[in-house]
Amino acid sequence: KFTQLAQTPPMGWNSWNKFACDVDEQKIREVADAMAANGMKAAGYEYIVIDDCWHGTRDTLGFIRPDAKRFPSGMKALVDYVHGKGLKFGIYSDAGSKTCGGRPGSRGHEYQDATTYAQWGVDYLKYDWCATEGLKAEGAYTTMRDALGRAGHPVVFSMCEWGTAKPWLWAQNVGHLWRTTGDIYNCWDCLHDNGGDSKSYGVLRIVDMQDGLRQYAGPSHWNDPDMLEVGNGKLTPGEDRAHFAMWCMLAAPLIAGNDLRQMNPQTLKLLTNKDLIAVDQDPLGVQGFRLTTKDSVDTWVKPLADGDWAVCFLNRAKGPRAATFDWQTQPVHDEVAKRDLNAGRTRYKIRNLATGQAQGTTAKPFRAPVPGHDVVMLRLTN
Ligand code: GLA
Repeated sequence: KFTQLAQTPPMGWNSWNKFACDVDEQKIREVADAMAANGMKAAGYEYIVIDDCWHGTRDTLGFIRPDAKRFPSGMKALVDYVHGKGLKFGIYSDAGSKTCGGRPGSRGHEYQDATTYAQWGVDYLKYDWCATEGLKAEGAYTTMRDALGRAGHPVVFSMCEWGTAKPWLWAQNVGHLWRTTGDIYNCWDCLHDNGGDSKSYGVLRIVDMQDGLRQYAGPSHWNDPDMLEVGNGKLTPGEDRAHFAMWCMLAAPLIAGNDLRQMNPQTLKLLTNKDLIAVDQDPLGVQGFRLTTKDSVDTWVKPLADGDWAVCFLNRAKGPRAATFDWQTQPVHDEVAKRDLNAGRTRYKIRNLATGQAQGTTAKPFRAPVPGHDVVMLRLTN
């Protein structure tokens, strides 16, 4: 059943951000080996997703086949391998005639492709929006959802139409997650022009573009601010930390996009930080929101199950700043969770999620330095 899947934001890995079209079965096996062995699987990562360019051609009956050079053992064998590691397998297609990388799309082949994926044992489908002239997103995505449902194998359905048709307004029962923006770009705050009218956005811009969407997210229907660039070598360690922490505050899907076979210990430590992941995966399923911005420091809050709260101070500026917060005087009311942070009456214990250290209670104003382009993230426990 649709709502039994993705009750918390999906976690996994996707090939695109690091490898783009350079995918093959050996690499995917090695990434699955790494995820199963390096602590990521234990931390909750589950899906190994091959993005664009795995495709060969359709056979004479119209069935899609993988690129025979890159996937000589066939897709079923690769899915079995990933399943054998205790992980799940995801694949990529497109609602139009061609994928964004120019491979065959699913238009006119939706039921056939869904059947093929089910035969292979595919557990997750990312469904893109290139070459869709004349199609309407709601109809096209609903067709594929129905095709997947008919094929009978449970599939997390990841919609990738870049927020163009405002899927948050209609896709609650169509996709388990939907992209809210154009692609992420591996930088802190840049705008990258891809030509045409396509643009990609740095981490901070993607964060800012989530404004106004939080009421549409919840268990089995998540806003997707795109996949992680953590560990891909362009962001500083502080920027990586801020990127990951903010995705957790946003209850975003945590889809790693780096080379899991060779990452430095800090990257692995960040991607497997169980306190941050617990904020993302919190069973209440409420997306966080920005409460204030003062002197380039955003204060974000996220209500959690059992009356806890996550608080994240995001320093947007390059230079150091101070995070300050007076729990006793700043009212915090969440319209979505319909809950107040009554720090005036309830004394919360504060724990710093970067250090794991206790940091007093909400009885006194909070003050801590935040390095440039970095975060300080707290959990308040009732
Ligand atoms: C689009 C998507 C990306 C990626 C590429 C593949 O740009 O938004 O996430 O899947 O296509 O070509």
